[in-house]
Amino acid sequence: MSSQHTVIVGGSSGIGLATARHLLASGARVTIGGRNENRLAEAGRQLGGQAQTVLMDAAAADALPAQFAQIGRFDHLVLALGSGQGVGPFATVSLASVRLGFEEKVYAHFATAQAALPSLSPTGSLTFVSAVSAQAAVPGTAGIGAANAAVAALVPILAVELKPMRVNGVSPGVIDTPWWDGMPEPQKQAMFKDFAARTPVGRVGRPEDVAQAIAFLIADDFMTGQTLICDGGLRFTA
Ligand SMILES: NC(=O)c1ccc[n+]([C@@H]2O[C@H](COP(=O)([O-])OP(=O)(O)OC[C@H]3O[C@@H](n4cnc5c(N)ncnc54)[C@H](OP(=O)(O)O)[C@@H]3O)[C@@H](O)[C@H]2O)c1
Repeated sequence: MSSQHTVIVGGSSGIGLATARHLLASGARVTIGGRNENRLAEAGRQLGGQAQTVLMDAAAADALPAQFAQIGRFDHLVLALGSGQGVGPFATVSLASVRLGFEEKVYAHFATAQAALPSLSPTGSLTFVSAVSAQAAVPGTAGIGAANAAVAALVPILAVELKPMRVNGVSPGVIDTPWWDGMPEPQKQAMFKDFAARTPVGRVGRPEDVAQAIAFLIADDFMTGQTLICDGGLRFTA
């Protein structure tokens, strides 16, 4: 494991960045990818210059093969990028927002995994990050939940189709990452408090919680076709 190379697309923030930190601490080689150059450079600094950084947009499918070719051969791919689109009551959420959610998450994950295949070790692993909106029945998440369910649906199919490569997913609950920064701070804190009270473990998640789950799926070579729900039990009580 320590000599292996993991590429994390969406590695410049939140869950992806925590995963990079976790894997580097175990001695692995890590490359992080993201769209925003400044954010990517800042993440590289936060990782002590130990990770390679690659500017890439998972939604710009045509450019991806050359970007993966530039990275060269690697062992594990983690797709930790997402979309906040497709949220709102079913009766009123716009189809445009739901469609954009699929573009930014489902098609972006699909295209990135496809483009990475020639560089990804056939005995390595591929880990998708979906979300518990695919499993919990929370009103107002039909659009984003459908997109995350589509990502989760890829996991068992690709585990069989791409064997012996292992293909897994993690499905996080509410995790305190910059993902929520668009929300005014008092509103965000009130929402976290509410979710913490409803979550069996009594708190919202930290990015490190999900990073540990991803690192487990990468390391355990008997795990494939599995989406690990990492939500503190929220799906039972949301
Ligand atoms: N936080 C939660 O509560 C939560 C819950 C369930 C599931 N998730 C899922 O977890 C994943 C990571 O979320 P997070 O909370 O860690 O969010 P985050 O802190 O906002 O990080 C998102 C990362 O993805 C990158 N990214 C987004 N779109 C990209 C694209 N098209 N191409 C390349 N990189 C892209 C961002 O970089 P740029 O700034 O460069 O775009 C950033 O590095 C997402 O799939 C999200 O759906 C999060």
